Amino acid sequence: MRRIEGYAIVSADGMIADAKGAMPDSIRNAADQRFLQESLDRAAAVVHGRHSHEGGPRAALRKRLIVTRRITALAPDPAQPNALLWNPLGMSLDRALAELGIGDGTIAVIGGREVFSVFLPLYHAFHLSRAANAKIPGGIGVFTEVGPDTTPEDVLVRHGLRPGPRRDLDVDAGVSVVTWER
Ligand SMILES: NC(=O)c1ccc[n+]([C@@H]2O[C@H](COP(=O)([O-])OP(=O)(O)OC[C@H]3O[C@@H](n4cnc5c(N)ncnc54)[C@H](OP(=O)(O)O)[C@@H]3O)[C@@H](O)[C@H]2O)c1
Repeated sequence: MRRIEGYAIVSADGMIADAKGAMPDSIRNAADQRFLQESLDRAAAVVHGRHSHEGGPRAALRKRLIVTRRITALAPDPAQPNALLWNPLGMSLDRALAELGIGDGTIAVIGGREVFSVFLPLYHAFHLSRAANAKIPGGIGVFTEVGPDTTPEDVLVRHGLRPGPRRDLDVDAGVSVVTWER
């Protein structure tokens, strides 16, 4: 069986990065990174846009699709042997994953904004971490629909997901995670 799961950490105002596309230290957290890295270790493949990457010592070992419009359908990534460049307009997700050698298992979607949004109809689960003490005015929202009157939670509800309990990851830093499921 295949599952699609999203992972993001957002500021109190629902942002994943500042206006220039940089992820500020205020939403970086070691406990959240541990949660992410351990989750990705269990995933069959990682999917992200060309400006995103999870980092960490095991990144090169993970199979991944890098979403880009620079190619028409699917192409090798000369810099990363375990990665393929993928344009969703040119090839289905199923076929791209088959080309990557992936059958069953969890596909972890790790951003950025447009990639998180494209997958909204498909998530079995979305793990929304929040750095409650951080605000990023004018930043990049986790979904394209996030705005002054629309929170990430509004968007997840709109797309048929329901929240589980809040789990504290780092109480002192005000960082927690809620897993939303369909
Ligand atoms: N806080 C978090 O959890 C989190 C998560 C992810 C990222 N971030 C941060 O957020 C920053 C900004 O993210 P971002 O949203 O600008 O970056 P992104 O999604 O990683 O990269 C954007 C690029 O991905 C490709 N792309 C996106 N959607 C596509 C689509 N539907 N079809 C084809 N290609 C598509 C395009 O690449 P081409 O230009 O090659 O066509 C686009 O320029 C990142 O740099 C990272 O620092 C934070």
